[in-house]
Amino acid sequence: MKSKYQSLTGMHDILPEDQIYFKKAHKAVEGVANYYGFSKIDTPILELAEVFSKGVGVDTDIVGKEMYTFRTKGGDLVSLRPEGTAPIMRSYIENGMHNLPQPVKLWYLGPFFRYERPQAGRFRQFYQFGFEALGEKNPSIDGQIVQMSYDVLKELGFKNLKVEVNSIGDSECRPYFKKILTSYFRSRRSSLCSDCQRRLKENPLRILDCKEEKCQRVKASAPQIIDHLCENCHAHFKQVLEFLDELELPYTLNPYLVRGLDYYTKTVFEIIESSEQGQAQGSLLGGGRYDNLAKILGGRDTPACGSAGGIDRIISLMKNRETKSSKSSQEPQIFLAQLGQLAKRKSLKLFEEFRGAKIPVAESFSKDSLRAQLRTANKMEIRWVLIFGQKEALEGFVTLRDMETGTQKEIKLDKVVKEMKAKIKK
Ligand code: HAM
Repeated sequence: MKSKYQSLTGMHDILPEDQIYFKKAHKAVEGVANYYGFSKIDTPILELAEVFSKGVGVDTDIVGKEMYTFRTKGGDLVSLRPEGTAPIMRSYIENGMHNLPQPVKLWYLGPFFRYERPQAGRFRQFYQFGFEALGEKNPSIDGQIVQMSYDVLKELGFKNLKVEVNSIGDSECRPYFKKILTSYFRSRRSSLCSDCQRRLKENPLRILDCKEEKCQRVKASAPQIIDHLCENCHAHFKQVLEFLDELELPYTLNPYLVRGLDYYTKTVFEIIESSEQGQAQGSLLGGGRYDNLAKILGGRDTPACGSAGGIDRIISLMKNRETKSSKSSQEPQIFLAQLGQLAKRKSLKLFEEFRGAKIPVAESFSKDSLRAQLRTANKMEIRWVLIFGQKEALEGFVTLRDMETGTQKEIKLDKVVKEMKAKIKK
């Protein structure tokens, strides 16, 4: 039956069975962040809309079409954060973090909001993790951010990752390249989609990002920015690539990668999973350098670089890939079936003993029949079931049933925890 109320379009519950994937992702991100000396930061979910319209850029899809923006009772125009980089730079400036030893290295994980058309891997509330290194212009930090991003995905079991990198120059070389690009696209205006005809006026670089087939065709022979980088950007990009070579990261150059946010300068990159499903989802992660963002938001000159990964997309691919055999150590491998009041009462102590030994045990207190409890254990794919009935409770033992073989044996109550510990270790 369809319920009267449903979650909003593009928003979904993270159900108990999915929490385990979130935990895994969180752990992988935190592990990499700690290793590289990044500290956790949480910024509010709401920010003044201007943080994004100025920071990310009014002409971007994110700000132009996708922000949840409203006026508060006090009259402030605020937005649900669509991304994390601009708020972190706002916080860096507000909290005088330029006084700290540089770079200030921060990581985060939380919900973000974009009013997008829902499709595979695209939600209106989604979760991102991110790394941001603020106050460092050396290209080695670009390399480190790519490495860390790659490490997280590797840690989560991704094998067929594609890292695409490009440089989109800076305020010295990009205006000139924009002119060249505009004249190229203008002469082919009628072959572009209507959105790109508009982009031609506002930001021709964005045309390179268009997924429409007709625009892709025009793009295929468009001029490439790496041929027009100024000396400084060229040298920076060369060094970034040298770092990536040194790290032996399997990257490819994508001269048309521009990313959908205006704050980028120099290095940009994305990581995709190359399976069919991975490609349908879009990028798992994206990032780059944003040397001008601090000034745009009213701070002093602060070179910076970072990345953010989409946890919902990552989890969806992990779920797809994960086989039944890869049960997490946190998931119970033992089920305690209890029958009758005395056994239920006595089993509380048994649970405590298992908890003391840090061995998770599943149960279904509300189900009375043994059959129903075995069925639950089966559904949970648990191999070992401890049966604790009236007779067992009175005589001080439990019956262990191996669900794989169907065999049973009795174990004395005071030996249960030790014996089960040995069994699940195997
Ligand atoms: P972004 O490319 O807009 O970059 O988002 C980063 C990642 O978030 C994407 O690769 C994707 O996995 C995920 N993502 C984005 N939109 C959605 C959505 N609607 N549904 C599900 N997942 C989504 C940024 O946000 C930049 N702040 C990254 C950055 C950090 N650059 C420098 N530092």
